[in-house]
Amino acid sequence: MRFEPARGLSGTLRAPADKSISHRAALLGAMASEPVRIENYLHAADTNSTLAAVAALGALVEENGEGAVVLRGTGLREARESEQTIDVGNAGTLLRLLPGWLAAQEGRSFALDGDESIRRRPVARIIEPLTQMGAELSAREGRFTPLHVRGAHLHAISYQLPVASAQVKSCVLLAAISADGTTTVTEPALSRDHTERLLLGAGVPISREDRTVSVGNSDEIAIDRITVPGDLSSAAFLIAAGVLVPGSRLLISDVGVNWTRTGFLRILRRMRGIVLGDLETRSEQIPAEEPVSDLDVAHGALEGTVVEPDEVPLAIDELPLVALLGCFAEGETIVRGAEELRVKESDRIEGVVAGLRGLGAEIEATPDGFVVQGTGGLDGGSIDAHGDHRMAMVGAVAGLASREGVEVIGMEAAAVSYPGFVDDLTSLCS
Ligand code: S3P
Repeated sequence: MRFEPARGLSGTLRAPADKSISHRAALLGAMASEPVRIENYLHAADTNSTLAAVAALGALVEENGEGAVVLRGTGLREARESEQTIDVGNAGTLLRLLPGWLAAQEGRSFALDGDESIRRRPVARIIEPLTQMGAELSAREGRFTPLHVRGAHLHAISYQLPVASAQVKSCVLLAAISADGTTTVTEPALSRDHTERLLLGAGVPISREDRTVSVGNSDEIAIDRITVPGDLSSAAFLIAAGVLVPGSRLLISDVGVNWTRTGFLRILRRMRGIVLGDLETRSEQIPAEEPVSDLDVAHGALEGTVVEPDEVPLAIDELPLVALLGCFAEGETIVRGAEELRVKESDRIEGVVAGLRGLGAEIEATPDGFVVQGTGGLDGGSIDAHGDHRMAMVGAVAGLASREGVEVIGMEAAAVSYPGFVDDLTSLCS
């Protein structure tokens, strides 16, 4: 699919529903004993995989045609043993979070597998803590899918995460609800806290002190309604297009602005990007809500910046966009401490460096990030998404901001998180 240089994006658009929160809402719905109504659930390939997975485990999934999904769960300890392997598709979040619940299903066994990209994603990071809690897990070569989980009576642990990963943290927190005692999880740097907020809202004893989250045992998930806000990570592609294409001015409504998700906006503002909105401020306690805001975006000149390691988990999925913005920013843009990018849906350091360089960028890979020299802008050419949704969307935005246009190979990958992306871009460009 080709994306020609744009003359300016304008208009108002509602951000698509949040993928991270949709996955978590469906899992909590499955773990609850009373019906849970999820408003604004994301209908995309990844989150459809989650609905199919919880249905295979015995939850009833009802869709009312207006975006809301009602889940009738099995209760915390009553997931049904599934004869078939649970197919997580391309969804890394499902792959890492679901075993947290399955680990507590005493005496029952489950297998998880997914597509070609999932088969390259590390799972040793969840095997380690769940094994310490008492479950039995095994994986191909000890670290790849198919992943087998045999549930057990779990006990609490104190776990120090070796990498800042919201997926691994959430996996342990979900297991902790059914474990004897109080589990603590300490992260090396703060990562998104959607699971913590949802558990708090569901009556689970949970608190945070600095980088340590504590979760006590609970008999039930007591929540009857979850409203999913718009996805900042999806909106980020529209924001970047608005900032980069001269003449642009757009409003994106209903975007989730949880502080642990808005690292990209803080980086962009440091680059002098124009984005106005009512962003959440950092808080010591776990907030009960997921705040939303409209974001007002305008084109403007950018300056290079340095993204430090502790900012990385708060902007992890947007870092390829930081590389793209860096091509149009005066001076140097550097990202450090982002080696996790190498184990996403694709190696996003190699992908973004090779991809943008192919379009004329001055960018070098480092072991844990990249260095970009702006602002020669981008000529254009073609870019291969390597089956990775976020790389496909980076290619599309690069095309709009380029001098000659960009062909994206594998644009269909966007469907895992943002099926309406091309239509939304087209409507803003016309
Ligand atoms: C996610 C956490 C991040 C992120 C992913 C979604 C989540 O992964 O990259 O797209 O929903 O918890 P890690 O926790 O592995 O960094």
